[in-house]
Amino acid sequence: MEQELLIFGAGGFGREVASWVHRAAWQGHGFKLAAFVDDNPVTDELNGFPVLTLAQAAQRHPDAGVLASVGQPRVRERLIAKAAELGLRPTAPLLHPNVEYDQQYVSFGDGVVVCAGSILTVNIEIESHVQINLDCTVGHDAVLRAYATLSPGVHISGNVTLEQCSFLGTGAVTVQGLPGRPLLIGADAVVGAGAVVTKDVAPSATVVGIPARARA
Ligand SMILES: CC(C)(COP(=O)(O)OP(=O)(O)OC[C@H]1O[C@@H](n2cnc3c(N)ncnc32)[C@H](O)[C@@H]1OP(=O)(O)O)[C@@H](O)C(=O)NCCC(=O)NCCS
Repeated sequence: MEQELLIFGAGGFGREVASWVHRAAWQGHGFKLAAFVDDNPVTDELNGFPVLTLAQAAQRHPDAGVLASVGQPRVRERLIAKAAELGLRPTAPLLHPNVEYDQQYVSFGDGVVVCAGSILTVNIEIESHVQINLDCTVGHDAVLRAYATLSPGVHISGNVTLEQCSFLGTGAVTVQGLPGRPLLIGADAVVGAGAVVTKDVAPSATVVGIPARARA
């Protein structure tokens, strides 16, 4: 069965996803890209696909699933809320065909996207609207709460929990937590590009460097 998809956000990440999504498959779902959605479209076509306002998209593709395709978690949350106001539901999980995982051991919420080259191991929970960019690894017993965001090349070790709307910049790494005592990246925390996280990160904190420390 083919699901129509609306990519909400016609920026760089949205265009990257669009370039592979029509080939993506997960548990028999195929996805057909219906359109990009943009609040203020500056063009009516992008890379061969139409660009619609949200109102146009809701009218023309009421049964399509929506992917919010911006990096900032809270912005993504707002886009999904706006789409819901017009009756549009989130997409089923979108996984690039070469993502390595076993569906027996990894669960995915709606609106999740996982890009090429990523590897998800075992006993992993990925909640709705999580974004996993290119070439990431997620280790055993990880929990990625809603809207958590991994930029390209992030490595999450075993027993780590990313709370809601946390954001990890390109190439960030976390060390492992313990069984029953996961390493915690707090809600709305930002981990800078290239940081190595060795201990819990407080909610809403920004940490950078090796080892990662809160910015003064
Ligand atoms: C950490 C981060 C959020 C800080 O952003 P910001 O608040 O705009 O910070 P600024 O660019 O104003 O930099 C402030 C200082 O922090 C330093 N800094 C910024 N990012 C840093 C990082 N990742 N590691 C170490 N130091 C960093 C800057 O050099 C600057 O230092 P200075 O005051 O001595 O000149 C951001 O730099 C970052 O790493 N974002 C991740 C981006 C990313 O990976 N995007 C993925 C796109 S797919």
